[in-house]
Amino acid sequence: MNTITIIADDVTGTINPNIFGHFTEHLGAVIYDGIWVGPDSDVPNINGFRTGIIDRLKQINAPVVRWPGGCFAETYNWRDGIGPVAERPVTTNWWYGHDSRLESNEVGTAEFMAFCRAAGASPYLAANITSTTPLEIRNWVDYCTMPAGSSSLARIRGENGDREPFSVPFWGIGNENWGGGGNMTPEDYATEYRKYATLASNIPGDGRCFVACGPSGNDLDWTTRFFEKMRDRVKTPASLLQGFAAHYYCGTAGSATEFTRDQWYQLLWQGLRMEQLVVEQRAAMDVHDPERRIGLLVDEWGCWHHEGSGPSGGANLLEQQSTMRDALVAALTFNIFANHSDKVVMANIAQLVNNLQSLFLSRGPELIETPTFHVFDMYKGHQGGRTLRTLVECDDLEFTHDGRFRAGYDNDSDGIAAAVSGTQCVPALTCASSLTGRTLTVTVVNLRYADRAVARIVLRSVAAAGTARQAVLAAGDPHDHNTFEDPGTVGAVWSEMAVSGDQIQLEIPAASVVLLEVPLA
Ligand code: AHR
Repeated sequence: MNTITIIADDVTGTINPNIFGHFTEHLGAVIYDGIWVGPDSDVPNINGFRTGIIDRLKQINAPVVRWPGGCFAETYNWRDGIGPVAERPVTTNWWYGHDSRLESNEVGTAEFMAFCRAAGASPYLAANITSTTPLEIRNWVDYCTMPAGSSSLARIRGENGDREPFSVPFWGIGNENWGGGGNMTPEDYATEYRKYATLASNIPGDGRCFVACGPSGNDLDWTTRFFEKMRDRVKTPASLLQGFAAHYYCGTAGSATEFTRDQWYQLLWQGLRMEQLVVEQRAAMDVHDPERRIGLLVDEWGCWHHEGSGPSGGANLLEQQSTMRDALVAALTFNIFANHSDKVVMANIAQLVNNLQSLFLSRGPELIETPTFHVFDMYKGHQGGRTLRTLVECDDLEFTHDGRFRAGYDNDSDGIAAAVSGTQCVPALTCASSLTGRTLTVTVVNLRYADRAVARIVLRSVAAAGTARQAVLAAGDPHDHNTFEDPGTVGAVWSEMAVSGDQIQLEIPAASVVLLEVPLA
């Protein structure tokens, strides 16, 4: 029998709602035809933004959205996206070489702010540092946040329709500066970061969080060398950065929709490696930030399959289908973040719609939810909850790894491939639990490809009493996914069950995610 023990008097942290964050880049059909259809469209919209997406973001309590990139950010000039739309320049998008799409700049700062307001989410602006100057980023902060009628840029903001300042709590300073963002060494980047952050943070603002570019995957060398270089001049790094953001993608095993049993486990195994990243990155940061004033973010994460599996057949760059396998990666990743809520302050899945591990796929007026959307919906009860120590006793599942995986960008690296190829294991179950008021939220993932599981949940120091709500996200086949033709193949099924005392028996279908919301005595 599998046993999950929840120790209610052992609180290990508080789950920051921002770990359930999002990311929208000017890439493929994420913005145009994705979130944005334009105010004159026949597609229901709120000031140009697709109502169906805004409604669902509200449904899942979307806390934060990162924009405008990604790689796109590193050639973005924020001045191209302000003022009358007809006068905005058409620019060559970062991704132009891949899909020949130009950037109309129809969605700029004011539009994105309106999107966030409508969705009830906080904006997280990713600022360019590779192809602009520190003054320009300071000017963007000025434009967005200076009081009405104060600076010239604040006045221009008013003339453009937004007299009152925007509330922008999160500012990223650069994107992937170890790669597309300038191919810098950690020392180069720390030097640049100091300049940019010193100038940008010099404009007063409460609770503003400046986020530095963290590692590709779990690259500890990047982290250590970045902080060491920072401290050449800045003895307390937290005075210049409040966040440090890693990127971690799981590379495809098989394809988005076709995979074997071994490839199923191979992708989940990659997802589970997020735990090592979180633990080791936080430990490396602790050396330089022992009081944890700098938060660890993972501001891009998710599964990255081969190009072309999405409904557009490759027309929309990086668009992919999402099966139950992707949903399980999302769910077990959230279990990791929840169990390490003392370490992770934000995470942004890549990307919201028509892209990598998306919550939605759109086509003209049509909008469908992927299985990953349902995970976000089921996990929202964890937001702001207190993490309870949760012990899982279950079998290990063996599978054969072909040695290929993408931890960050180390795909197919020979040394790593040799180390992981052959027999590997994953646990059959993962679980996280949190407490909000007198409600216990328990999320369980059954990684088994084909077999159901029964688990006994044992409560320590509390007892259940009343009617629990249960949601099950399962599929007849692990390859199941939603399509425009059949949008309801995968969805959560809700039910209720009577609970009492300190034990609950849980039936868990194969390849599934289960949520229990348990009222406590
Ligand atoms: O999410 C797609 C791309 O992946 C982003 O633009 C970039 O930051 C990362 O390499």
